[in-house]
Amino acid sequence: MKIAIACDHGGFPLKARLMTELAAQRAEVLDLGTDSEAPVDYPDYALALGQAILDGRAQAGVLICGSGVGATVAANKIPGIRAGLCHDTFSAHQGREDDDCNVLCLGARVIGPELAAEILRVWLHARFSGLERHRRRVEKILAIERQFSRS
Ligand code: RB5
Repeated sequence: MKIAIACDHGGFPLKARLMTELAAQRAEVLDLGTDSEAPVDYPDYALALGQAILDGRAQAGVLICGSGVGATVAANKIPGIRAGLCHDTFSAHQGREDDDCNVLCLGARVIGPELAAEILRVWLHARFSGLERHRRRVEKILAIERQFSRS
């Protein structure tokens, strides 16, 4: 599975550890930046990551900012992206199994690198259950997107 990863300057200190974890889990990685702690705007990186998933350059993504909140809000504006901010392992696997999340968001100023790596591991190996009730709920999310989509 190819995983895109992107961060802003607040998330940058965590990116290297997560890249190492992705390699350890034998994931192919598409690194979309940023590459330093020089200030950038997290919506730009959320957009780049979402586009990579929507056009098939990656199957899922990891998006990091300082708190994880801005990245999550921005990513969820992109139709087809379901981003979950997960700072615990339960949310990480349930967000995949029940909600079919395709982006994991993390806050580098909130959790330490080893917990973040464990969350990533759990998230990577979890899969959408496909159960009828979860399909129905995801379909309702898609219907909301369609309802408010202008194009
Ligand atoms: C950047 O200073 C910071 O606002 C950003 O990384 C993130 O925490 C936003 O939610």
